[in-house]
Amino acid sequence: MDRIEILLAAMTLDEKIGQLIMVSSTLAVTGPVLPGDVAEGVRTGRVGSVFNHWGAGRVRETQRLAVEETRLKIPLFFAFDVIHGHRTIFPIPLAEAALFSPDLWERTAREAAVEATEDGLDLVFSPMLDVARDPRWGRISEGPGEDPWIACRMAEAKVRGYQTDDLSAANAVAVSAKHFLAYGAATAGRDYASAEVSDRAIEEVYLPPFAAAVAAGAATVMPAFNDVAGVPMTANAHLLRDVLIGRLGFDGAVISDYNAVMELLSHGVAADAVEAAALALKAGVDMDMMSGAYAAGLATALQRGLVTQDLIDDAVRRVLRLKQRLGLFDDPYRRVAATADAFHDVERRRLAREVGAKSIVLLTNKGVLPLAAAAKRIAVVGPLADARSEMLGSWGGAGKWEEAVTILEGLKAALPQAQITYVPGTEIETGGDAGIAAAVAASRGADVVLLCVGEAAIMTGEAASRARPELPGRQRNLAEAVLDLGIPTVALLTSGRPLMLPWLFERAAAVVATWFLGTEAGHAIADVVTGAVNPSGRLPVTWPRDVGQVPIFFGERNTGRPTDPDQHYTSKYIDMPATPQFPFGHGLSYSRFALADLHVSAEVLRPGETLTVEVAVANTGAVAGEETVFLFIRDPVASVARPLLELKGMAKAVLAPGGRQVLRLPLAADALKFPGLDLKPVLEAGDIEILVGTNADRTELLSTRIRVEV
Ligand code: IFM
Repeated sequence: MDRIEILLAAMTLDEKIGQLIMVSSTLAVTGPVLPGDVAEGVRTGRVGSVFNHWGAGRVRETQRLAVEETRLKIPLFFAFDVIHGHRTIFPIPLAEAALFSPDLWERTAREAAVEATEDGLDLVFSPMLDVARDPRWGRISEGPGEDPWIACRMAEAKVRGYQTDDLSAANAVAVSAKHFLAYGAATAGRDYASAEVSDRAIEEVYLPPFAAAVAAGAATVMPAFNDVAGVPMTANAHLLRDVLIGRLGFDGAVISDYNAVMELLSHGVAADAVEAAALALKAGVDMDMMSGAYAAGLATALQRGLVTQDLIDDAVRRVLRLKQRLGLFDDPYRRVAATADAFHDVERRRLAREVGAKSIVLLTNKGVLPLAAAAKRIAVVGPLADARSEMLGSWGGAGKWEEAVTILEGLKAALPQAQITYVPGTEIETGGDAGIAAAVAASRGADVVLLCVGEAAIMTGEAASRARPELPGRQRNLAEAVLDLGIPTVALLTSGRPLMLPWLFERAAAVVATWFLGTEAGHAIADVVTGAVNPSGRLPVTWPRDVGQVPIFFGERNTGRPTDPDQHYTSKYIDMPATPQFPFGHGLSYSRFALADLHVSAEVLRPGETLTVEVAVANTGAVAGEETVFLFIRDPVASVARPLLELKGMAKAVLAPGGRQVLRLPLAADALKFPGLDLKPVLEAGDIEILVGTNADRTELLSTRIRVEV
């Protein structure tokens, strides 16, 4: 018998249930504090894991309670929301998605894991893999954007970065791939609301990122808060047991979201804690995070025959296996032994600045950026200019907002010769118009105005849905008053989602999506504004013109009456264009790039084969820069209507002025499979369009065709 079976055989029912319980520490000003009842629960073997608890000393002491004071000495594991960095905070995930770089996605996860393990953590509630196509949903900021192929690549990169290939390593952490499933499809973008998604949308859009995470070895999965077509994910036996565990072969632990097991009562599928615990366990939820339902109800559920002993044992086995994979049975203190390494802190901040600058998307530019050396008098206005506590964005981990660099500081450091005047003008959400006159006065006579507007961090992330994703408070008044001066004005937009501001895109000399960039935000923004870094971020989401267009995404189907603004009975709006403000992949550079010479290495593709798509990229501008090239396909005739564009590849060209590079993107026959009429993957014979370009605007893509023979 292996160690886990020996332990299981020795455990009482209470000890078994204890392993299925995850409880939170509380956060005081000085850091996490273990509440007395949690400490008592640990000491008496009624807790399997503690989260929101970090710091080598605290973790060591709490672990000591488990391995020295409990009967069976089973170690705890420690978890935390390390979403975009632990101490050093990197850009929010949506901003990171704009990097389109698996290498950088992996590096930031690796560095976050190193910092997290220095603080004694074993597991991070990351990556969030929820495909989201509705900017009203606050949590769009925490995920990979709208495209499932990108979400898959991000899933693989993040799992590799966090877990490495040896989860027992002292600097590796287990991931929690979340939120399974279709959380991003919340009705009307309202957080926690039902996801009314079809089985096809599950197969094509929502499931693939989790399949990729599982294939990459994700150690745990978190079910979503929402219901899918009436079945709450915390009780969804079909999607958890049949699909995740059965079909995808997931063999790790399923850990519920916060209080989600008890919320089965509010969902209206359980009458009490006993029923809720039974439903969740039967569905495959191994650990109950903070709801108390397993503690209060599982033993009674067993007595009443609602669950079996085998079901409980299986859940315990999976939790113990996770602890074993983490190496905790061999050394329960393996992640609290390390001491922080000052040199690497510096390197991490350098990485945060690099990915920050590369995440920035230059949305519009009428030639004002990068700032000319002659622009000496600079007015910096807006409530986000010197807003240190906003820079980290939501889920700032153990990052210290006090250490974040503001936009104003970054600009002052980058432009020591400039005469910079700063006036906030108004507040983010609550301010009035009283400060606007001062902002206008400061702007008058400036060579350029940098208008720092956008959302507060708290307006993004969980439970931060917005019916109108626009500038909050009186910021539009401020912006228009400054724009009325007619001085070149650059809007630096801080946000966790696309903001619908057509008037700003029209009137500003440039608009820059600066998201929430983390600890090094101000330096990263200044790097792009001054031209020290040529912007290369590209939109991972379609940017709507108006909230009335939502959901809007490039992977839509054609309809029987495709959009035609000149024909009445077509799929369009009569009061605005159906096209977005900016397509997926949009992002300007200080240089220009031209694509040409699209070739495919074979005109016919058979099962098992891979062809190469070649395209030449030339830098026709005056400065060095980086361009991202996307490979899309379209299957024009199939047994099921296929999307107008499906992303299947991406590559980057880094080019000096006048430089030219031929990019080669592989396309495997397997990638052309889709869920057929029976929802099983099928490769169908026929033509496939290959479309290549720098964004998802279909009118701009180079195209050719191949034939699939099966
Ligand atoms: O990890 C999070 C989850 O994304 C939302 N609810 C709380 C969890 C733990 O903090």
